[in-house]
Amino acid sequence: MIDEVIVETKNLNWSYNETKVLDNVSIDIQFGTFTGILGPNGAGKTTLLKLILNLLKVEKNSILIRGKDIKNYSRKELARIEAYVPQSIKMDFNFTVEQVVLMGRTPFLGRFDRESGRDFEIAEWAMKETGVLGLKNKLITQLSGGELQRVVIARALTQEPIIMALDEPTSHLDIHHQINILSILRSLAKKEGLTIVAVLHDVNHALEYCNNIFLLDQGKIVDSGSPEKVITPEVMKNVYNLDVNIKKNPFTGNPYIVHDYA
Ligand SMILES: Nc1ncnc2c1ncn2[C@@H]1O[C@H](COP(=O)(O)OP(=O)(O)OP(=O)(O)O)[C@@H](O)[C@H]1O
Ligand SMILES: [Mg+2]
Repeated sequence: MIDEVIVETKNLNWSYNETKVLDNVSIDIQFGTFTGILGPNGAGKTTLLKLILNLLKVEKNSILIRGKDIKNYSRKELARIEAYVPQSIKMDFNFTVEQVVLMGRTPFLGRFDRESGRDFEIAEWAMKETGVLGLKNKLITQLSGGELQRVVIARALTQEPIIMALDEPTSHLDIHHQINILSILRSLAKKEGLTIVAVLHDVNHALEYCNNIFLLDQGKIVDSGSPEKVITPEVMKNVYNLDVNIKKNPFTGNPYIVHDYA
């Protein structure tokens, strides 16, 4: 892990119309970590992710990417650094899976360039990793929800980003693919120094995969740090109004929560 703050927000505020949804949010994300953003529905997680992708326009000097104001990056420059897997995916054009995945190479191509051998190789690798290679000639309008989500993750991997921002990347996936995708991301963070910023709802996934989490509630960071430190029965009660117990996973040795279903 390189000691570099790759994403920094400084007293970030955001309002939609007159309603404040992010309140003084200051976070530091370290290079090569798997960072989770957690919090209840409506807490501001997607908004925060969109801001650090420059999809919502912030004031000068409130977000730094690799130490430089996000406002000073061109769109293409930023697309070579950051890839995005959105929470809701709408694609209604008639492209094949392979064509969509290859779109991840766009930031690296000149205006009239065609993809080269290496572009196809990366796309093929990404489709294999996410288990969609067998679907490569299928139209994306004809995929299941989970297949489409994995195609969008494959496109983001094909972008070979430095930062990958994912908004509930496992929300449509079956349990095998949930673990598979999160494990691929963790391994890329460890081996390649990819920085992962993922909005996660599954607290147990956060406990297993994240190096660091930010817990948002009503637009404010209520706690941050290692998931073992942040996720306590008190916090789960305060933020989610849920009574939980913490146990130890016999396979991994990591903590996990259990709760009463009553
Ligand atoms: N385009 C918009 N216009 C107005 N209000 C919005 C808009 N997008 C989100 N909001 C509001 O901002 C708040 C934060 O929304 P956001 O999507 O960031 O929440 P979230 O933490 O991602 O929630 P979820 O877990 O449900 O995805 C919510 O109260 C939401 O209703
Ligand atoms: Mg959201």
